[in-house]
Amino acid sequence: MAAMEVPRDLNAVLDAAWEAARKVPGYLMENEARLLGTIAACAPGAGSIVEIGSFKGKSTVMLATVAAHYGLGKIVAIDPHNSPELLDLKANPEASTFQDFLNHIEAAGVAEHVEVHRAYSRDVSSDWDRPIRFLWIDGDHTYEGAKTDFDGFFPHVVAGGVVALHDALNVFSGPIRVFVEDMLRSEHFGAAGFVHSIAWSQYRPEDGKTFEEQRARLERVAAPLIPIVREDKPLHGLKKIHFKLKRSRVPRAAVDPSKWLSLLERVQG
Ligand SMILES: C[S@@+](CC[C@H](N)C(=O)[O-])C[C@H]1O[C@@H](n2cnc3c(N)ncnc32)[C@H](O)[C@@H]1O
Repeated sequence: MAAMEVPRDLNAVLDAAWEAARKVPGYLMENEARLLGTIAACAPGAGSIVEIGSFKGKSTVMLATVAAHYGLGKIVAIDPHNSPELLDLKANPEASTFQDFLNHIEAAGVAEHVEVHRAYSRDVSSDWDRPIRFLWIDGDHTYEGAKTDFDGFFPHVVAGGVVALHDALNVFSGPIRVFVEDMLRSEHFGAAGFVHSIAWSQYRPEDGKTFEEQRARLERVAAPLIPIVREDKPLHGLKKIHFKLKRSRVPRAAVDPSKWLSLLERVQG
């Protein structure tokens, strides 16, 4: 499967996109945002970019700025905007992030490049029928939540497309378990990695098996985190030290766009 080329102006576009996104309050580091922009610009295949969990629009602005520049279509941004807490999803209209979200995408000049769904992911996935090139999961971080997001949209991801989950290396049960169980242990996925707390892998239904060793290496260091974060509760004392020690074995350095694309090409060894 041939990967796309890195556009010559990508680094400048990522700089501009981060300049816009960093002003938006939210949960995304610069190296994570640049990875999202790289995937949006470079992942092979054709289809939508779907974001589950927009909050106030930080990752939406990053992705939409890149998508607008390269004519990649609207970012599909899904969020009920009624649950300011990641693990306490009781509807709370008083705490809605919706107006902030709209203001931020407007201020960044990308509102027309965003398809807004004020909804839970399951209500959008239930009648979704479009191909997806990049599935970005940053919604409910419980296991049930992340698994619902993955199961609802993954059937629409095109060969060569990428799935990424946020907070896979933080203390949440969902993203790391879905990444290990549904992606690293699947012969249908190819290259995989972490950048800061984002876990990503490319869907390679035809030849994912050729990336088996690489996925297994990552699984060996990532899977031990699953039981430690199972309860979705903050860790203290020895448990916290134990988690950090295990997490330090996971490679998660930033990658520049050409290195990222070369990872998609690499097989065994
Ligand atoms: C960590 S925040 C997203 C951060 C955002 N991507 C950013 O860059 O700042 C998680 C968001 O997921 C949303 N959310 C929770 N459950 C959801 C679900 N089932 N479907 C879609 N969004 C959900 C919450 O409302 C919250 O705004």
